[in-house]
Amino acid sequence: MNSREYLDTILAKEIQNMKTVLITGAAGLLGANFSKYLLDEGYNVVGIDDLSGGFKSSIDDRVDFYEVDLKDYDDVDRVFKTTSPDYVYHFAAYAAEGLSPYIRRYNYMNNVVCSANVVNACVNFGVEKIIFTSSMAVYGEGNPPYTEEQPQIPEDPYGIAKYAVEMDLKLAKEHFGLDYAIVRPHNVVGTYQNIWDRYRNVIGIWIRQSMRNEPLTIFGDGTQIRAFSDIKFYMEPFKRLMIEYPGETFNIGADKDWTINEAANLVVKVAREFGYEPNIIHLEKRKEVHTAYSDHTKAKELLDFYDDTNLEDTIREMFTWAEAQPVHDVKYIDYEIEKNLYTFWKK
Ligand SMILES: NC(=O)c1ccc[n+]([C@@H]2O[C@H](COP(=O)([O-])OP(=O)(O)OC[C@H]3O[C@@H](n4cnc5c(N)ncnc54)[C@H](O)[C@@H]3O)[C@@H](O)[C@H]2O)c1
Repeated sequence: MNSREYLDTILAKEIQNMKTVLITGAAGLLGANFSKYLLDEGYNVVGIDDLSGGFKSSIDDRVDFYEVDLKDYDDVDRVFKTTSPDYVYHFAAYAAEGLSPYIRRYNYMNNVVCSANVVNACVNFGVEKIIFTSSMAVYGEGNPPYTEEQPQIPEDPYGIAKYAVEMDLKLAKEHFGLDYAIVRPHNVVGTYQNIWDRYRNVIGIWIRQSMRNEPLTIFGDGTQIRAFSDIKFYMEPFKRLMIEYPGETFNIGADKDWTINEAANLVVKVAREFGYEPNIIHLEKRKEVHTAYSDHTKAKELLDFYDDTNLEDTIREMFTWAEAQPVHDVKYIDYEIEKNLYTFWKK
């Protein structure tokens, strides 16, 4: 029996035992997609989400869902006590990197304090392993393509929050034996992505703007470089982390990169197929890393990760999905600091 067959056997046994997997952020892009995947694979799935950044309609009916804010640690403990999860995928966060300097408290509460509440519950209720989604943001400007070993020098509060939780997980393992794995994704796209938040998810923002006959907005000259990957290629590698590679960190995402101008033009092309005629406008430049993409050799070698994203097809799928969704208000946030706020974010 080779190692892959051995793993499949272990996973099959896990399913027979109806292992329970708790997913935080179950209404979000990663949480909604991974919940469905695990349910189809035969796992029990418990979901937690406060619906601050995701939608209840995205959650599969088979999920044992708890509408809980992770800041409310008594409620978090209650869910863990009631459902006794074997594994936890901690996806919940507010991932608005460029906005994070203006919402420091909100950022650290949702991305650090909430994570501490989840880690506490994992230790206190005997969870076997926690899988945490960090971010490429931990590398800061760095030296792309980022390898996992590169120094982590985050340049914004969002990246700092992710890095803090990474370090906290290492300590929790040393102190309490809590197993963990860390994934650092970047620029994930797909259905169930929140396209109604004006501060994050650039492809989603452009799809919403197209559908509302608004111009597609680009910060600065659009020469920034990003690599977009479809969420569907993450499912199997995510599942494998339940059992394999405790204490390891993996970059995950697409190798093919795009300038922001190229990606916007692709959205325009697909939008026209759906009967929209958006223009593109350039706004003032914002503080952001210009060129950001990662090396995925480790995930390919150890997790059989294979990204086969066809961005045009993914955008098409997202338009089809978005057109079937109810109208949502665009999310505006209360800023904690307005000094140096970009004009396009002023209310
Ligand atoms: N999507 C990406 O491109 C990307 C890239 C790098 C890292 N990540 C990380 O992956 C994870 C999932 O990302 P996503 O794209 O699915 O995000 P998402 O915003 O679609 O989903 C996050 C979910 O967490 C929930 N949530 C937020 N704060 C909460 C709280 N206090 N209590 C309970 N629920 C709360 C939101 O309501 C939302 O449904 C995040 O941790 C994010 O930082 C995502």
